[in-house]
Amino acid sequence: MLEFEPSIHLSPKVGKRDDLWWKGAIIYQIYPRSFADSDGDGIGDLPGITARLDHVAGLGVDAIWISPFMRSPQADYGYDVSDYRDVDPMFGTLADFDRLVERAHALDLKVMIDFVPSHTSIEHRWFRESRASRDNPKADWYVWADPKEDGTPPNNWLSVFGGAAWEFDTGRGQYYLHNFLRQQPDLNFHNPEVIEALTEEARFWFERGIDGFRIDAIDFGVHDPELRDNPPRPPQRDQHGATTPFNMQYQLWNKARPELCEKFFKPVFRMSEAYGAVCLLGEISGDTSLQRMADYSSGGGLDMAYSFQLLSCTLAEVRQHVEEAEACLGDGWACWAFSNHDCFRSATRFGGRNPDDRLRRMIPQLLCSLRGSICFYQGEELGLEETELTYEQLQDPVGKTFWPASKGRDGCRTPMPWQTQAEHGGFTSGTPWLPVGPVNQALAVDRQDGDPDSVLNATRAFLHWRKRQEALRTGDMAFVDAGEGLLVFSRRTAAQSLLCAFNITDSERQFELDAIEGDAGCPTATGERAGHRVTLPAYGVFFATITDAS
Ligand code: BGC
Ligand code: MG
Repeated sequence: MLEFEPSIHLSPKVGKRDDLWWKGAIIYQIYPRSFADSDGDGIGDLPGITARLDHVAGLGVDAIWISPFMRSPQADYGYDVSDYRDVDPMFGTLADFDRLVERAHALDLKVMIDFVPSHTSIEHRWFRESRASRDNPKADWYVWADPKEDGTPPNNWLSVFGGAAWEFDTGRGQYYLHNFLRQQPDLNFHNPEVIEALTEEARFWFERGIDGFRIDAIDFGVHDPELRDNPPRPPQRDQHGATTPFNMQYQLWNKARPELCEKFFKPVFRMSEAYGAVCLLGEISGDTSLQRMADYSSGGGLDMAYSFQLLSCTLAEVRQHVEEAEACLGDGWACWAFSNHDCFRSATRFGGRNPDDRLRRMIPQLLCSLRGSICFYQGEELGLEETELTYEQLQDPVGKTFWPASKGRDGCRTPMPWQTQAEHGGFTSGTPWLPVGPVNQALAVDRQDGDPDSVLNATRAFLHWRKRQEALRTGDMAFVDAGEGLLVFSRRTAAQSLLCAFNITDSERQFELDAIEGDAGCPTATGERAGHRVTLPAYGVFFATITDAS
């Protein structure tokens, strides 16, 4: 019932995508509100990012992805776009964006930006027009439906952010669909004019020189035109351990519809082919996301997709998810993340409050050793923790709705700490929109810069070494059973075979493997090798060269 099969295949390996720079790339995610504030309004902005790009490039990453900075009333902090073609004044201007791209390219960083095509803001001119009457030219650009006879919504679909996925509009006397906030009406992908318009909005940014898009919440793009009810499912828990009604349905009819490739990905892909070595990365989630990650990225119209699997699991579960993906990927390409602006920070998720420093150092190295491309969230290079906030400090509407069971997403969105001694960590000269958090302030960039053992310096050293390891960028991957508490896998290309070993516990572990030949020379390795035997201290890391055939 949840199976999906793409029909026509469109190969990302042909056409103008000759330079597949994104394959195995480390993509540093910048959440613009919280990265660096240049004008003292307490909100990060584009000039702030440009001024700090040296830090990003110095890490040894390949690209940046900037979360939305387009015009938006900020009901969902930029994921509610009211004009796809302009920069919100709070973040700067189009000229600021051009300067950012120029600087990033000068530093050899590719630039990816967020594209939020599944829904717009309620303030977008398309929606204003659409809601004005039932027969205007854009009447069908959003998903409108009559109430049931008893006045209730057209079906049982629920919003990810709480309540029904339908909001009644008194003007039209109809409901409109919103999978997230009611301020985020869902565009109707069954209308070809909508796809054409969205494709042109995307083209605008390719024309400005970007290298790719992260496409937001895209599996909500297409809905079932018959609006069939979703079936019930046994309650699931979210990352906070809470159960929300949304998780008590299979999102069968409102999400992950098979028409997505033909209706949306492929038209956008075809348009993008005029722009050379660009990349389309889709954000997908849900039960079938690993299989769809494979399908979408092996001829379905995306270059790669990332799912939420590693954003909510434990360290011990990483192997199971990656193996599951490996089993279905085929020609497809995965993109993994441990942290982002929606999920608990990895240091806290894996290590609780005040995580072990060795664990903080290990996390980026484990993440960046997996096969696939990597989205690396700002502050992960510092081992930042999830910030504890009071209800009064919350900004995220999701946290306000689900408090206290879920505290929302503010805890991972608190500002980057740049200077330990400066007020607000040097993020802003004004009052930050969220507090930096005392724990994270102590982990600021300047403090870690001078400490050879810091997470920051370990991450830099590792990523620079990784750049030269072809096997880590593009090699195959296979797990090895090395014993409880160990994550051990090989990465191989024709020219290089590496063994990557991580001790995910706080006590020493050892293992032996005949295939081990020597040390791979990783500067951040903390394990030791004697012959075929490797000893790993708590949260230890080791890379060995191995024989080709094992
Ligand atoms: C983004 C969220 C956003 C949602 C709706 C996502 O998955 O990452 O931050 O709230 O889409 O646009
Ligand atoms: Mg600002």
